[in-house]
Amino acid sequence: MKYSSVAYSRAAAMLRRVGLIWFITAAIGQLAFIAFIVAFYGLRTAGGNLESWNEKPLITGHVPGDGAGNMMFAIHVLLAAVITLGGLAQLIPQIRDRYRPFHRWNGRVFIALALIMALGGLWLTWVRGSYLSYVSALSVSLNGVLIIAFAVLTVRDAMRRRIDAHRRWAMRTFMVVNGVWFFRLGVSSWILLNQSPRWMNSTLSGPADIALSLGSYLVPLLGLQLYFVAADSSSGRFKFVAAGIVTLLTGLMAVGAFAAINMMWLPYM
Ligand code: HEM
Repeated sequence: MKYSSVAYSRAAAMLRRVGLIWFITAAIGQLAFIAFIVAFYGLRTAGGNLESWNEKPLITGHVPGDGAGNMMFAIHVLLAAVITLGGLAQLIPQIRDRYRPFHRWNGRVFIALALIMALGGLWLTWVRGSYLSYVSALSVSLNGVLIIAFAVLTVRDAMRRRIDAHRRWAMRTFMVVNGVWFFRLGVSSWILLNQSPRWMNSTLSGPADIALSLGSYLVPLLGLQLYFVAADSSSGRFKFVAAGIVTLLTGLMAVGAFAAINMMWLPYM
């Protein structure tokens, strides 16, 4: 049976709508992450009270006498709020269409910050030694390498004026930049749903730790790729199926955001 053009338009509209709902859900969870960073790290750092970073469980955090390490940590966590906010602003179509110069500059700043965050994160991991196990360090490092690679590809396609490809690499960069945010959602929702840290351990190397760490950037990337392929597809049925999968992923993200807000961020605000 051939898909009618009405059903096809409905499927296309549904895919766009679930994309919007995905974005609104992500925005709420990311604004909560930003609020936590500002309330916890921002206030303590601005007050010069750096030792009090350690009031929350961290791998290394503040170390007396380690000026370079503490400075890199401060830069990393404070820029985390800026890049998360910048990424969200970049995805709002009204801002993109009405304030083009802002959109362009915000995009450049986002890519520069992505590189700084990834390189700084790799430094904190491998030079400062802030990791709990090799497997967890390697997984977050792969996230960092993907951020660098996708940021470079985003810039390359912008310079070659391949606007559609540029936009898609920028979206992929957005997803991997948010890998650490997705990881916090994954860990909290896993503990909430299991009512225990099942298959996790204290060195982030249990089966659930590894799956959640790799999944924190690979699953969002796969979901985004599915969205792109479905948007391009001439099959209405495929668009419906993709819309269903994106809805499911949005539901999981909402549970994760709820869990992370309650278990990881609100207690420290
Ligand atoms: C670009 C997106 C990133 C964001 C938004 C981000 C955000 C953060 C935040 C908020 C913290 C403070 C810890 C907390 O309170 O949860 C942190 C710490 C840290 N991040 Fe990142 N991060 C990013 C990328 C990375 C990457 C790619 C790596 C590794 C390659 C990394 C490695 C670290 C390390 C080692 C710490 C210190 C942990 C500690 O001492 O306890 N980050 N990051």
